[in-house]
Amino acid sequence: MGRDKCDSGIAVSSVAFNMASILQKLMTPLWSGAPEPPRNKVTVVGVGQVGMACAVSVLLRELADELALVDVVEDKLKGEMMDLLHGSLFLKTPKIVASKDYAVTANSRIVVVTAGVRQQEGESRLNLVQRNVNIFKHIIPQIVKHSPKCIIIVVSNPVDVLTYVTWKLSGLPKHRIIGSGTNLDSARFRYLMADKLGIHTSSFNGWILGEHGDTSVPVWSGTNVAGVNLQTLNPNIGTDADLDNWKDTHKQVVDSAYEVIKLKGYTNWAIGLSVADLTESLIRNMNRIHPVSTMVKGMYGIEDEVYLSLPCVLNSGGVASVVNMTLTDDEIGQLKQSADTLWEIQKDLTDV
Ligand SMILES: NC(=O)c1ccc[n+]([C@@H]2O[C@H](COP(=O)([O-])OP(=O)(O)OC[C@H]3O[C@@H](n4cnc5c(N)ncnc54)[C@H](O)[C@@H]3O)[C@@H](O)[C@H]2O)c1
Repeated sequence: MGRDKCDSGIAVSSVAFNMASILQKLMTPLWSGAPEPPRNKVTVVGVGQVGMACAVSVLLRELADELALVDVVEDKLKGEMMDLLHGSLFLKTPKIVASKDYAVTANSRIVVVTAGVRQQEGESRLNLVQRNVNIFKHIIPQIVKHSPKCIIIVVSNPVDVLTYVTWKLSGLPKHRIIGSGTNLDSARFRYLMADKLGIHTSSFNGWILGEHGDTSVPVWSGTNVAGVNLQTLNPNIGTDADLDNWKDTHKQVVDSAYEVIKLKGYTNWAIGLSVADLTESLIRNMNRIHPVSTMVKGMYGIEDEVYLSLPCVLNSGGVASVVNMTLTDDEIGQLKQSADTLWEIQKDLTDV
């Protein structure tokens, strides 16, 4: 093979020549200025199981005009990008790029951070913390450098602590740093409750607030179907005194991740779908309300700078406002307990 030939045996220079010649014959250019920057670029940092589920969900919902992928494992990164590009015939996102260099993320509107080490079987989310904080010290400044106007959705666990860490490391205002929080826990809760009642998941209304994880707070006082409050039908719902043991449904939510990890090694589809739902509210400026992790200092008597999930109005600016949900004293107590648990960990973090 000659020096000017590539592996397929075609002369490189003649490829370039033929391309130009074909293009000249095929099209008459009317304008040759620089292309506009993307308007709805989404970046996913970390192309593991969760990152790719987020990426594919965003692609299938047709939310982005450009998708950027970043990871530290170059072969996997390139492989994932190529695999997606080979499906471009079936997608409406015209540009998919990937690199370990954060320059590829420039001008992102939304950055989803899923990088990090994941939970091992039986490992609590909070045990992961300092390992992932160290990874974030590298990632977050790079994101902000290339997309200073972006909104960051943190997914990596422990998500509430890492959302706080991201807020601190980024220097961005609190409304532009969102943790996926209990959006997934609430989706699991709604599915399990709706399944028991024989209705579609979207027709059961219920919220899990607080920490994504073991101390999450089910708002039994707000559970309803078509406006019928379940607590008026069963005043003991969610308590130990409830003979129907609805409380067990919340236990199932808390155990969900552990159970799926035990069965398949990781969780990814439900979190990917839920992150795409958040992305849609942000990109389409929808003012939809989601239970996501936000800075709650000053709310419900919480005095520390912690990120916890409350019902948040999401629009193109990020978290526009937080709904002051009517909670029982017991629910507020549980929320404060979540805050205390997180603060216990955060106060000992170094270099944040
Ligand atoms: N918030 C939630 O509801 C939720 C749900 C499921 C999983 N998670 C969390 O999501 C995270 C990812 O889980 P996973 O199953 O995809 O793990 P994974 O191991 O499959 O993927 C993690 C990816 O991060 C990459 N990575 C590591 N360090 C990096 C760095 N410095 N920069 C860029 N990329 C880096 C790895 O190369 C890998 O590809 C975990 O922390 C997990 O606990 C959160």
